[in-house]
Amino acid sequence: MPPTALHPEPAGTLPGVPVVDITATGPGHTPIQQVMELMRAHGPVLVRRLHGRDVLMVGDADLVADLADEERFAKHIGPALENVRAFTADGLFTAYNDEPNWAKAHDILMPAFALGSMKTYHPVMLKVARRLIGSWDRAARAGQPVNVPDDMTRMTLDTIGLAGFDYDFGSFERAEPHPFVESMVRCLEWAMTHLARTPGKDYTEADAAFRADADYLAGVVDDVIAARTGTDQSGAEDLLGLMLTARHPADGTTLDTANIRNQVITFLIAGHETTSGAMSFALYYLAKHPSALRLVQREADALWGDTPDPEPTYEDIGRLTYTRQVLNEALRLWPTAAAFSRHAREDTLLGGRIPLRAGQGRHRARPDAAPAARVGRQPGAVRPGALHARGGGRPPGARLQALRYR
Ligand code: HEM
Repeated sequence: MPPTALHPEPAGTLPGVPVVDITATGPGHTPIQQVMELMRAHGPVLVRRLHGRDVLMVGDADLVADLADEERFAKHIGPALENVRAFTADGLFTAYNDEPNWAKAHDILMPAFALGSMKTYHPVMLKVARRLIGSWDRAARAGQPVNVPDDMTRMTLDTIGLAGFDYDFGSFERAEPHPFVESMVRCLEWAMTHLARTPGKDYTEADAAFRADADYLAGVVDDVIAARTGTDQSGAEDLLGLMLTARHPADGTTLDTANIRNQVITFLIAGHETTSGAMSFALYYLAKHPSALRLVQREADALWGDTPDPEPTYEDIGRLTYTRQVLNEALRLWPTAAAFSRHAREDTLLGGRIPLRAGQGRHRARPDAAPAARVGRQPGAVRPGALHARGGGRPPGARLQALRYR
């Protein structure tokens, strides 16, 4: 599906939906917060106009639920993801829905993201969680503060590197981020700032720097893939081993090398910042809510309180039900994938009232809308226990490793 959002649509055609032109200020460095501010002023559904390009922004819980209807709407590769595509190409996150490699990689990789596979990654998670604890213990002994979001990023990056393709970024051994991370962050910044470009201005230098960073990312990943290609992968338990060997059930082919590279870069981008942000927000809220912190501590103490160097099992993690609720609540309050884009498959009425044309890719959700819809209450107040009935008993996913040790 071509990204129709790249082509400006005639504005003001949506009945009852205000149009807010932000061309004068641009989206700034905190575009999501800016949208939230606009919604406080103009209501939860608005058209945001930038340099004549319109995006319908939706923060109303019912409308967000409507947009999630896969029968009528599909993922949209809007301008932001189109820019990320410049260095992730047909990786899962930025592939077009009708691109053959999307369905192929989706089918091959699905099992690796199923709950049962998390058990495979458990030893790696434990190993990296111990690196974090060791680092924080050293800092505590030296009376030094720690930078929590930076350390969460170290932890999630090392976890994905090892679980994804047996590559050790060794982030806790470095004062500065790994050069790969610095390049990746610059590429993402290029993709985001590209959106706010002033027409007619010369961006040759920025584009050349981006190309150099993107080439470096590709080179590092290609070296890792080359070192593994043609070797025995039967004992490999990481995503790369799967991608090098697994054959598609329909045609028996494996993923091509370029696509594997795009998937590896995609996992690093899609997986590490989202997860580290979720962990950082959870720790922030725990620090601000001592009663919730005490309940998390009690849960960890009940399992390992008397053990000096515990060896949590995969099954133990599923017993941390309150801790799980804290993570869910942190994600509800500050979802770290804060918005997503959709387009209508056919002409339709959003929420029974806003007419949308097929392929019009302009519909985004604001951070707190969808989770509020799920728990049926207003966003804002912190209440981890509220999610108990819904998610409390679920076994954990891949991103729970740190909270339980403290
Ligand atoms: C708290 C952590 C995470 C959050 C909040 C999160 C959120 C999301 C969301 C909202 C989407 C849908 C985007 C859209 O439809 O436009 C998505 C897609 C995706 N995520 Fe995550 N994610 C997280 C962790 C991860 C991890 C750890 C990985 C991989 C190691 C990952 C890989 C992906 C991929 C590959 C896609 C694209 C799937 C497809 O379209 O086929 N994510 N994620």
